[in-house]
Amino acid sequence: MASTLMILNGPNLNLLGTREPEIYGHQSLADIEALCVKAASAHSLTIDFRQSNHEGVLIDWVQEARNGFAAIIINPAAYTHTSIALHDALKAVSIPVIEVHISDPRSREAFRHESYVGLVATQTVSGKGAAGYAEAVAIAAKLI
Ligand code: DQA
Repeated sequence: MASTLMILNGPNLNLLGTREPEIYGHQSLADIEALCVKAASAHSLTIDFRQSNHEGVLIDWVQEARNGFAAIIINPAAYTHTSIALHDALKAVSIPVIEVHISDPRSREAFRHESYVGLVATQTVSGKGAAGYAEAVAIAAKLI
């Protein structure tokens, strides 16, 4: 049985720690990766943690996750609100998909209220800061 979670991060999340810290906090993406490694090992799982600023790369990774991965955890960042292509790619996946957001997009600007990814995600965690990633790992562990 697959025991690796693919954890995908979309555009600008490589800037975490310095990018709008009043919204996204002070933890870097490397800090979040370390947090996910710890959360996953508590469930005897491993992670494959990636970030891209490119929609097509994220789609290729979602397709790759269809073979040999237990679940996908994805913070699609701004593509959450724009990408029907990412929505379609996730729809073609049969493993659990957990959507995660550091902030709560629904309490921010109106253009963040729609999530194309949320429409196909098994579950969504938002507004819990970096800790939301650990919660997403725990949810994935329960679902697989
Ligand atoms: C985000 C929320 C999105 O609206 C935004 O575009 C991001 C980050 C979050 O983690 O809160 O880049 O996904």
